[in-house]
Amino acid sequence: MDTIVVLDFGSQTTQLIGRRIRDLGVYSEVLPGTEPIPESIRRTMKGVILSGSPASVHEPDAPKVNESELSPDVPVLGICFGLHQLIERAGGTVERASRREYGRAPLRFRNNAEAHPLFRGVPDGFVSWMSHGDSLSSLPDRYEVLAESSSGIPAAVRSESEQILGIQFHPEVTHCEYGNRILENFVVGICGAARDWSMDRYVEQVRGEVRNAVANRSVLVLISGGVDSTVTGALLLDALDPEQVHLMYIDTGLMRKDETEEVRQSLEALGATHLHLIDARERFLSALRGVADPERKREIIGDLFMTVQQEELAEREIGEDLLAQGTLYTDLIESGKGVGTHAEVIKSHHNVRSPLVIEKREAGSIIEPLSKLYKDEVRQLGRVLGLPESVVGRHPFPGPGLAVRILGEITAERVQVLQHADAIYTDELRARALYDKIWQAFAVLLPVRSVGVVGDTRAYGSVVALRAVSSADGMTADVYPMESRDLLEISARITNEVPEVGRVVYDVSSKPPATIEWE
Ligand code: XMP
Repeated sequence: MDTIVVLDFGSQTTQLIGRRIRDLGVYSEVLPGTEPIPESIRRTMKGVILSGSPASVHEPDAPKVNESELSPDVPVLGICFGLHQLIERAGGTVERASRREYGRAPLRFRNNAEAHPLFRGVPDGFVSWMSHGDSLSSLPDRYEVLAESSSGIPAAVRSESEQILGIQFHPEVTHCEYGNRILENFVVGICGAARDWSMDRYVEQVRGEVRNAVANRSVLVLISGGVDSTVTGALLLDALDPEQVHLMYIDTGLMRKDETEEVRQSLEALGATHLHLIDARERFLSALRGVADPERKREIIGDLFMTVQQEELAEREIGEDLLAQGTLYTDLIESGKGVGTHAEVIKSHHNVRSPLVIEKREAGSIIEPLSKLYKDEVRQLGRVLGLPESVVGRHPFPGPGLAVRILGEITAERVQVLQHADAIYTDELRARALYDKIWQAFAVLLPVRSVGVVGDTRAYGSVVALRAVSSADGMTADVYPMESRDLLEISARITNEVPEVGRVVYDVSSKPPATIEWE
């Protein structure tokens, strides 16, 4: 299958480049930028894209592409830092700009760029999206500017041979106008890659990869009830003999209302032969007693998860060889563990950073078959594997569960209050046909009490915040513009039916600057 190789130098949007290319129906692999491209991939490689990076080419330990990786007969597109590397190698210069260019930037074509294949169908003056501190100050010989920003910074360049192209902006970001068109022009128009990639073919490929990785060993999947781990379980049951697959679900008591029962039913429907359901509600609650700090909560939950798992494995004599996790690309990148090692740590996701997981990872006994995918691709994969819409369409749920939605201390009573309010919210969204239009919606229990009147007396009740966001992958998110009538009716139902709640508010912050979860 024709392949476009994306070499990763640590940009937060590297996987998004790969993802956009797959959306065009062309197979793409994201590989570490500083390591050799495997021979098996070289054989089908039609083009190479060098990603951006949080590093600057001026830093002594900045990641660098190995000269020998770029063959003269395969077109190369450098994006931002990728462009800077190409230009420095060829004898041009890159300077630290006095002012960072960030966000929307209209571009002007130069040197007849409208006729260039990279800009086919793209109008002069289109608005690109920039995020850089360094920029090109002089071009190498036999290079030409194709577009520049309003401050005169080169925004697109080409080599005379046309083998090397570079852009300062990020076509992979949704805010970049004609971004997909530019990627398509490069991948299909310039590299000539065939559009023969589909989710069905991906399933075939990943099935083979899972079989190779697991061979005749046994594998354990920790099922959280969410889409990612359920799809991982379905994939393993599909690729392997179900006798090899152990599915373990630990009820931390921090799940959504009735979730444990739903999980049991959907796992049984997957044809699992080894299904282990563990009730650890008391243990989690007591380990979290008195803890209000969010990262501490995550740590405690992550570690206890693994401890309970180890104990149960020993007790049940499962003796698993491998651990499979439904870690997505976004989980890795947000924990600073992307394909490269350069992405910065934003938040610790327990399935990535728990010391026990790290230990397993170092021993090479973790498989993460979804780690190249974005959430909506995982849903597509689940559909191809035959999972029902009620499972694949479910909103994402964080590993630490309601612990990070109960701000402040976690008690059994507060868990119940939140589960109740959240269940009403979800129920209403489904009844109003809003659930599938929203990427993620949930209730949050705030650590404050607020005054109200019940009957004729003043009462101090809890405050619940409702969150609903639109997003493609969780990396950025917009507030879902809920109709006020829906909000008023949902709020009234919550305060009527959950006696502990005295007030409901709606969160109207996008990501960034806020995150989706409250902690
Ligand atoms: P944030 O809050 O970072 O959320 O904007 C982005 C997506 O990640 C989920 N999330 C988590 N998932 N462990 C997880 O497994 C966590 O600690 C965690 N924190 C956030 C969040 O629900 C959203 O889908």
